[in-house]
Parts: sequence; structure tokens; C-alpha cells
Amino acid sequence: MLFEPISLCGMEVSNRFVRSATHEWMAEPDGTPTEKIGDIYEELARNETGVIITGYAYVNPKGKSDHLQQGIYDDRFIEDYRKIVDRVHKYKSRIVLQIAHGGRQTMISSEAPYALAPSAITEKTMGITPEEMTEKEVLETIDDFANAVRRGKEAGFDAVQLHCAHGFLLSNFISPYTNRRKDRWGGSTEKRTRIILDIIEKAREMVGNNYPIMVKLNATDGYPEGSRKNTLDAPESIEIAKILAENGVCAIEVSGGTAEAGDELFRTDIDSQEKEAYYKQYSKMIKEAVDVPVILVGGIRSKVVMEMLLEEGYADMISMSRPFVAEPDLVVKIKNGEIDVVKCVSCNLCSDSSGIKCNYDFGD
Ligand SMILES: Cc1cc2nc3c(=O)[nH]c(=O)nc-3n(C[C@H](O)[C@H](O)[C@H](O)COP(=O)(O)O)c2cc1C
Repeated sequence: MLFEPISLCGMEVSNRFVRSATHEWMAEPDGTPTEKIGDIYEELARNETGVIITGYAYVNPKGKSDHLQQGIYDDRFIEDYRKIVDRVHKYKSRIVLQIAHGGRQTMISSEAPYALAPSAITEKTMGITPEEMTEKEVLETIDDFANAVRRGKEAGFDAVQLHCAHGFLLSNFISPYTNRRKDRWGGSTEKRTRIILDIIEKAREMVGNNYPIMVKLNATDGYPEGSRKNTLDAPESIEIAKILAENGVCAIEVSGGTAEAGDELFRTDIDSQEKEAYYKQYSKMIKEAVDVPVILVGGIRSKVVMEMLLEEGYADMISMSRPFVAEPDLVVKIKNGEIDVVKCVSCNLCSDSSGIKCNYDFGD
């Protein structure tokens, strides 16, 4: 099944492999995407990666999360992104723009003197207490996301993915731990999900009904067992997935974790098949609840596990991040029977602010 085509959001994709969004630390300081970023995506496309999701692009400088992160907050970026998209489209791969706002994980700078979030709940790893967004700021942010979707379409991206995972703004809104609002964007599950629906509605006015909008969704905030009360977890995240799928989201990538919960989102101890695909129970429940394709990410490393995930109904597509840093040609290698397990050891040394690369010494 790994090499069977799939219809994803109305587009034909030639296999089941997705390169999950991966920040590169390679944009210009103002967010302009560079040729180096294009080099990475072109290499993935040349090596038959079915879908390539870009690193997270910030929709407003007030929501920038990291140095040298790519931006999509201004029309001036459209042309540079179009060049990157064209390089990918020389091959069969599809390319998706991930758009994000840092929320309580915003990097404090002259552009973002304070972090914005649904509620003023201190982020303990950074020691930052964000400002509770005013109604005006929420409405402006909805506009920022909608305009980013429009720019994605204008640049030729096959789809846009809203980053609703990992403790960034949209993930802050859906979590009862970080969203204590009492207005129309807080309270019940539906109200906490509403900002995402508002973004989609606003974006639809600009890009029409058919342009594909996907989400990367936190299925759990990832706090340790015993301290999950009043945080986001199943079954509530399944409910959120249903609301999104019923309101025009055409594919859901299932992830989890936040920095504060302990960096569960990129685990380091994946040394057995049992430890692979660590959010698979969530993706199975979500797949049973929605009728849009479900993409699973998080610690997927071996061909047997990949096949099992597809065959046993855990997911429709297999998404990976770190393995593609170590082996951009892993899809072709699996296809040709050259490897059964990717070589990535999940050490996280690729998380390199001088520019992403595999820094593990394989001794070869
Ligand atoms: C260096 C690095 C950068 C990442 N950047 C992003 C990002 O921009 N957007 C996102 O949704 N996830 C990001 N992630 C998380 C990955 O997409 C993925 O969810 C996580 O690494 C687990 O998958 P893996 O085990 O295949 O690496 C990043 C991960 C790493 C290691």
C-alpha cells in the first residue's frame, strides 16, 4: 500500500509518504524564503516524496517563533515562494505551505515585544506570560491566517496546512489548559475550535470553496499521565477533528505534545518497533471518526510499521520529519528494497539553528 496512489484533498498523490513540516533556520531575517530552502524541497521531490509540507511560516511578525523562520505575512513573499513551488512541480510531488502563529511560544523580539495567546497562562519552559488577546487581536489574526492562505494559493502551493499543534497559537486555542476565555472563542469544545472555522470561512471568501485546507492537529497536549486533567486529550481531540472535517478541512495530520509538556512531539528513544508511531492510537480513533484522509506523524521508522499502519487502519498516509533530514532519498530507497528501516536515530541533533542538517556521526 505504501506505493499506492491516493486522492488527497482532490489531488492525486503518487504514494503515501509525507514530509512533515520541518523548520530549517534558512530564511532571511525578515522571513523571505531562500534558495537553500528550495534546494531541500527539490531534493525531496526528485526523490519521489509524495507530499512535502514546508517549515512553519509565520502569518504575522508578532507571531514569529524562531530565528530565520520563513514568513508569509506579506504579498512580497509570493514571488519567492512561487519559485520554490515551481522547482518542486518539475517532479510529481505535491507541496503544502504550513502556516502558523507562535501564540504563547512566540519568540520575544523587537517585532514581538510580548507573546499573544487566548489567555495569560505562563509558559513554563520559556518563563513567558502571554497577553490575553483582545477581540480586535483575534479578528486581526483570523485575517492574517486567511491572507496567508490566499498567498499560498497565489504562490501555487497545492494546499495550505494550518498548524494547530505543538503549543502554538491555534493549539493554544483548542486546549482547555491554555484557553480560559469566556467570549465566543473560549469555553466549550466548539467555542475553542471556532477560531479555526473562522479562519477557514474568511479564507474561503478569498480562495473559493475548492482550495485545499488541511490541519496538523494536537490529539493531546502530551502532559504526563496523572497531570492531563483540563488539558487537551482524547476523546475531546477526536471531537475537534470531527468538527474540522465537517467544516471543510480536507485532511488531518495527527500529532501531539507541546514544549511545556516535555517535548513529547519529537521523542528521542525510538529504539524498537513498539516505540514507533507514538500517536497511532489517536490517529486510529480520529480515522474512525472522520471521513477525510488521516496522516500520522511521530517516530515512524520501519517499513513493517508503515505497512501495518496503513493496512490496519491507523492512517492513510505516513508522515516523517527527522528521517528526511538524514535521508532525503528514503522513499526511493524503500521502494527499491535498499532499506527496511530509516537510518535516523531520533537524536534531535538536526535541530540546528545554524541550518537544519543531520549532525549524527554514523561513522561511515
Ligand atoms: C528540527 C525540527 C523542526 C520542526 N519544525 C516543525 C514545523 O515547522 N512545523 C511542525 O508542525 N512540526 C515541526 N516539527 C515536528 C515534526 O514535523 C514532527 O511532528 C516530529 O518531529 C515527529 O516526527 P518524526 O519523529 O518523524 O521526526 C519539527 C521537528 C524538528 C525535529
